[in-house]
Amino acid sequence: METEFTANDQVAPEEMQSLLESVGGAPYSSIERNATALSGSIFVAAARHKGRLVGLLRLVGDGAYVLHVADMQVHPDFQRKGVGRKLMGMAIDFARKKKTGTGDNSGEFTLFARAGADAFYEKLGFILAPNGMVLTDTGSRRNHELDHQRRWAKQRAKR
Ligand SMILES: CC(C)(COP(=O)(O)OP(=O)(O)OC[C@H]1O[C@@H](n2cnc3c(N)ncnc32)[C@H](O)[C@@H]1OP(=O)(O)O)[C@@H](O)C(=O)NCCC(=O)NCCS
Repeated sequence: METEFTANDQVAPEEMQSLLESVGGAPYSSIERNATALSGSIFVAAARHKGRLVGLLRLVGDGAYVLHVADMQVHPDFQRKGVGRKLMGMAIDFARKKKTGTGDNSGEFTLFARAGADAFYEKLGFILAPNGMVLTDTGSRRNHELDHQRRWAKQRAKR
């Protein structure tokens, strides 16, 4: 059976949690926060195999000047099969329709790449933006972010 792709499908917070757990991205998520995140998303693209959620992309933003990729996850059993490319293609089509951060349209279509995922995004047309900034309101948060940046840069340098 083929993988099916849908835009603005009803994704349940529980299946989002299972997908996040499968890629090791769940320590900070919960069913309750997933529900808030899903209902606050301006665009949701889902990939399903036999009904099971195997890929998810969420965009947040104002639909005019700003779109940001809040989730881009593909289940490990379905990675490197074109699922991520298809989901991002749907998101870019949405951005083009909204005239946000595409072509000659004003605005920004942004994301933060996980360590190792930058190569994937570069294949799809994204470039590094060193002027991106992240709020750190406590020392521990700042250290956490700086540690993440060091690991990210180290992994990128290996390419
Ligand atoms: C990163 C991720 C979304 C990519 O999705 P995917 O379905 O595996 O990617 P695709 O099969 O559509 O790949 C598209 C292209 O990117 C390449 N690619 C995919 N992942 C890559 C990676 N980690 N490093 C380098 N290239 C990668 C593929 O080889 C393919 O190239 P090609 O078209 O020249 O053959 C997926 O691996 C994933 O969910 N990983 C775990 C969670 C994660 O890191 N998410 C990103 C959060 S920022």
